[in-house]
Amino acid sequence: MNVVLIGFMGAGKTTVGRMVAGRMGYAFVDMDEEIERAAGLSVDTIFERHGEADFRGMEAELTARLAAGDRQVVSCGGGWALNPGNVAAMAASSRLVYLRASQESILKRTGGGSRPLLNVGDRAERVAGLLRARTPVYTSVADLVVDTDELTPEQVSERILEEAATWAA
Ligand code: S3P
Repeated sequence: MNVVLIGFMGAGKTTVGRMVAGRMGYAFVDMDEEIERAAGLSVDTIFERHGEADFRGMEAELTARLAAGDRQVVSCGGGWALNPGNVAAMAASSRLVYLRASQESILKRTGGGSRPLLNVGDRAERVAGLLRARTPVYTSVADLVVDTDELTPEQVSERILEEAATWAA
């Protein structure tokens, strides 16, 4: 079994994923970091030089590889779940956990980071639009939804671990 963390930028997927993997004794994979390592380029630079479509292709390729693995906690980029092929590839071997965050939390948590999709004049407007489009998708593919607004990363991890104890190994 794999645990796949999905949700918007700033939801805490990387922080929580690392904690959950440590506690479960599973391997931790951060998809953005893995793509950066393989390409030898930052996500920013991939978007800038090659465009978003190429990045999505890299995401899909990595997903196909991870789908064959077991006992992994995978933190996905915020756009990963939007590709039904990605979700279908992981579904058989994984439980999908949606880390939900409000627009306010997202704006707070993504303040300084280098996120090409939020590198625009009106960040709040961009976040609102993406959230509107993505929230129904995140919700519909998730096996578990954790509302992160009022929780620390440790508390979010605990919630996932409780649920993971009921999932077949
Ligand atoms: C993206 C989210 C980013 C990264 C890329 C695109 C998105 O990952 O994959 O910038 O489409 O939401 P994080 O959610 O880890 O920031």
